[in-house]
Amino acid sequence: MSVAQQIVDRHTHLLIGNYGKQPAVFTRGNGSTLWDADGKSYIDLFAGFGGTILGHAHPDLVKAIHLQSQMLWHVGNQFYTEPQVRLAEAIRQASFDGRGFFCHSGAEAAEAAIKLARISGGPNRKKIVSMHKGFHGRTLGALSATSGPAQHGFDPLVPDFIHVPFDDLNALDAVMDEQTAAVIMEPIQSEGGMNVPSPQYVAGVRALCDQTGAALILDEVWTGVGRTGKFFGHQHIGVTPDIMTMGKALGGGIPVGGIWAVPERASFFKPGTHGSTLGGNPICAAVSAEVFNVINRDNLLARAVEGGQHITRFMQSSRHASKMADIRGRGMFIGVQLNTPDATALLRRCLELGLVINVTQKNVIRICPALTISTAQLQQGLELLDKALENI
Ligand SMILES: Cc1ncc(COP(=O)(O)O)c(C=O)c1O
Repeated sequence: MSVAQQIVDRHTHLLIGNYGKQPAVFTRGNGSTLWDADGKSYIDLFAGFGGTILGHAHPDLVKAIHLQSQMLWHVGNQFYTEPQVRLAEAIRQASFDGRGFFCHSGAEAAEAAIKLARISGGPNRKKIVSMHKGFHGRTLGALSATSGPAQHGFDPLVPDFIHVPFDDLNALDAVMDEQTAAVIMEPIQSEGGMNVPSPQYVAGVRALCDQTGAALILDEVWTGVGRTGKFFGHQHIGVTPDIMTMGKALGGGIPVGGIWAVPERASFFKPGTHGSTLGGNPICAAVSAEVFNVINRDNLLARAVEGGQHITRFMQSSRHASKMADIRGRGMFIGVQLNTPDATALLRRCLELGLVINVTQKNVIRICPALTISTAQLQQGLELLDKALENI
C-alpha cells in the first residue's frame, strides 16, 4: 500500500469526517507549489482558503517564526508582549483608527464582534442582521449569522439573528430599528458564490447603521490583508466599519484571527468581558505582523491587482468562455461562475492535472492564489484549469 493510502486510511480511522475530502495527501509546499506524498507537484491557485497569502514557507515568515520561537512562546494575556503591539500597529497603519483583539480563527473573530456590538449597543439592542448567503463561521454565534445549509440540524441557534437578501437596501431598511445592535456582512460574499455588492449598497448599509445607531461589522476574513488589492475590502468602497473581523490570511497560514474596532466601541470590552488564552500569542503575532511588512515591502497590493487582471483576461479569452456565466471579484479574489449547475467534478480533474483549485456553491470556481505567485506560474495554473474545463 502506498504511503499516501496509509495516511488516508489512518486519517479516516481517527479523524471525524466533517470535511469533504479530495484524494491528495500533501507533504510539502514552497511558494505556490505543493508536493504530495508520491512526489507529484501541483500549482496552488487556492492558497488553503486564502490562508497562505504569501505562499508556502515564505522565507520572511519562516524567519519570523524561528526568531520568535527562540525568544518567547506564550505567557498569557494578563502580561504585555511586544509582537502583539507590532501586529496592532501594522493593522492600524493598514486600516483605520481603532483597537484590536486577537484570537485564532474567523469564527472566533465573529463571536468577538457580535459580543462587542451587543455590549456597546446597551441593554435594548440585541438584534443582529446578516445576509442571505453570508458566511461567518461555524461556532454557534457565528453560525447564527451565517445563512443556509450550514445551520441545519443545530437548532436552537442564538436568538435575535435575522437574515435579509444581500445587496437589497429596501429589505435591510425594513428590519433596521432602535433594537438593532449590528449588521454583519462580507464586502464580497465568498462561500455564498463570490457575490460583489454594488458600492451604493455598502454605503447605504453604513447610512442605515448611522441612522439607527447600529454597529456595522464587516467580515474581512476573506477580503482582508491584501487579497483584493487593498489591505481591506471596505477600502474599495470608501466605507469604514465600526468593527471588522479578520482571519485566514492574517496569519499567512498560521492560525490568527482578530477584530479591529473603533475606539468608542472597543472601550466596552473591559477585563473579564472577553478573552482567549492563546490569542495573540507571541509566535502567531510575530508572523502576522511580518505578513503586513512583506506585503508593504514587496508592493503586493499592486501585484494582487495585476494578478486579478491577468486571471480575468485569461478566463474571458478562454476557448471555454461560452461555458462561463460570469467572472467577478476583485484583485486576486476571482470567481468564475459556470453555466453547468454542478462543476464539482472539476476539482478532481484539476488534481489529476496537478492543480489545486476550489469550487463554491457547486459551480463557482474560486481562484485566489498567493499574492507572491509569479506571472509565469499563474499562467501555467490557468492553462491547467483551461484544460480541465474541456471535461465540463
Ligand atoms: C467570510 C468568512 N468569515 C468567517 C469565516 C470563518 O473562519 P474560520 O474558518 O477561520 O473560523 C469564514 C470561513 O470560511 C469566511 O469565509
